[in-house]
Amino acid sequence: MRILGIETTCDETSFALVENGTTVLAEVTMSQVAKHAPYGGVVPELGAREHVKNIEKLGTNFMTAIKGYDIDAVAVASKVGLPPAVQVGEAYAAGLAKALTVPLLPINHVVAHIWGVWIDKEFETKPTFPFLGLIVSGGHTQLVTFDSPTSYEIIGETLDDAIGEAFDKVASLLGLPYPGGPEIERIAETGDSLAVPFPIPLEKEDSLQFSFAGLKTAVRTHVEKELAQQHETYKKYFIADVAASFQRVAFLHLAQKVEKALKQTGYTQLVVGGGVAASQRLADVLFSYFAEKEITCELFIPNRKYCTDNASVIAGYASNLVE
Ligand code: KG4
Ligand code: ZN
Repeated sequence: MRILGIETTCDETSFALVENGTTVLAEVTMSQVAKHAPYGGVVPELGAREHVKNIEKLGTNFMTAIKGYDIDAVAVASKVGLPPAVQVGEAYAAGLAKALTVPLLPINHVVAHIWGVWIDKEFETKPTFPFLGLIVSGGHTQLVTFDSPTSYEIIGETLDDAIGEAFDKVASLLGLPYPGGPEIERIAETGDSLAVPFPIPLEKEDSLQFSFAGLKTAVRTHVEKELAQQHETYKKYFIADVAASFQRVAFLHLAQKVEKALKQTGYTQLVVGGGVAASQRLADVLFSYFAEKEITCELFIPNRKYCTDNASVIAGYASNLVE
């Protein structure tokens, strides 16, 4: 079974052809990051305009590249995302499905993030159901139990900002460009993650909820108070320390809630997906947290390119919706 996937929910225009849910036969992703960077974040209308500008050409080239393959369905990232951007992909996908006379499958792109591990060739052993999912992106922070690909339940969510959004806002406070996550990861390498003792959010609470707004405010307060006092030569060290300390606390917050969810469910596998999972530091923090707390849990985090938005996870996940 071959499914063609389309993703336009945010700032990537992406096409992919995936066989039997796991083998990526072709993929192409065009990023708009450079267009949004001057604004410090994604501007929905600008995103939609860019998708409109690029999708026809990208789609035509992609169809030429995959000529000769039979296509059984067209899947499109739908429902969750920036509405004007999502609509561009939906309209294009509907036209394509009609032209190919195949079914059109609308896919929840947040849930599809979990599928990165299945299409990533590096994972010879795939997770087995049931497992705990952790979805960490620019718009979502969710703990999800998966009984099967299509039977899942959200057991924890953020009460305010999503984690990726917090990374982007903190980066902007520190004068770093958009998208903030990779910038914070890069600059934190040179910083001391124990330099600023930001409190871990909701640490004492038993709930599986997340919160990043308080942490973001703590960073802002610290930066507003201290940055101007720093000697020009030392400012970059100050920024690196704040980035590293923020990153450590944000990831420890995830680790603590994952620990609670694993205890509650009795599951022994954690599958992570979404843009923030692209961070190598996140994997490091989770590994060392599990080791330190003697938590038995197999950790699955796909390669960077299958963490951030891409059409391959959309097409791969969609195979679960076809008989
Ligand atoms: O899943 P995604 O590509 O798009 C959404 O569905 O939101 O996630 C984008 C988010 C952005 O907030 C970006 O800053 C964050 O993922 N991100 C990272 C890293 N790479 C991307 N956050 C932390 N560390 C990273 N290395
Ligand atoms: Zn996403």
